[in-house]
Amino acid sequence: MKLPFELPLETDRLILRLAREDDVAALMEYSADPEVCRYLPYEPRDEDEIRKSMVRRLGFTEFTPDGHPLFLHVELRETGEMIGEFLLFSRDVEARQGEIGYVLNPRFQGKGYAKEAAIALMDAAFKTANLHRIEAKCSAANAPSWGLMEKLGMRREAHFKEQAIFKGEWDELLIYAILQREWLELHP
Ligand SMILES: CC(C)(COP(=O)(O)OP(=O)(O)OC[C@H]1O[C@@H](n2cnc3c(N)ncnc32)[C@H](O)[C@@H]1OP(=O)(O)O)[C@@H](O)C(=O)NCCC(=O)NCCS
Repeated sequence: MKLPFELPLETDRLILRLAREDDVAALMEYSADPEVCRYLPYEPRDEDEIRKSMVRRLGFTEFTPDGHPLFLHVELRETGEMIGEFLLFSRDVEARQGEIGYVLNPRFQGKGYAKEAAIALMDAAFKTANLHRIEAKCSAANAPSWGLMEKLGMRREAHFKEQAIFKGEWDELLIYAILQREWLELHP
């Protein structure tokens, strides 16, 4: 296992840890939801697909640029419920580039959990794993996602208009990023 930092990561309200087999039920609660999947690169999943995804996640414990992310599940400290997932991709080892992705169960959105988890993950990625730059991408129509990137102090670096057809509609792709030195100014 080639972890970029020690796990779990802990915040006031959350624990970010590797996926566990008994997370399947929690995953089913949101991975089958069309609203949750609206801007994700897959359609709502049925039970069989969720179980297969769970098996893949259990194997995504490395931080290497092989196209697979390090997969972290987010747990509520108070209740132990699994409330969502954060992904960290290694995009380039020499240039120390990373990319994050995230999904929260709608029951737990609007409570600041995504921001809290993202800060913990990016703090570890910049301060312990020594990444140089972290990027995040989303559709321009996904305001909660780019709103989160802005709250994290990330800069909008690109807005590609109608650059692809995504789920049958023109897609506008936003790319946000922040450099290590910029992060350290915000989070010394
Ligand atoms: C993107 C996503 C993770 C954002 O989740 P979120 O819960 O809205 O994000 P935050 O953690 O930043 O929470 C923000 C809200 O919590 C509120 N909040 C409540 N209590 C809070 C607290 N204690 N601290 C901070 N914020 C708090 C904030 O005011 C904010 O509300 P607002 O959006 O009305 O201003 C979520 O929308 C999601 O999972 N979407 C579906 C999957 C998806 O599209 N992923 C991205 C693909 S690119």
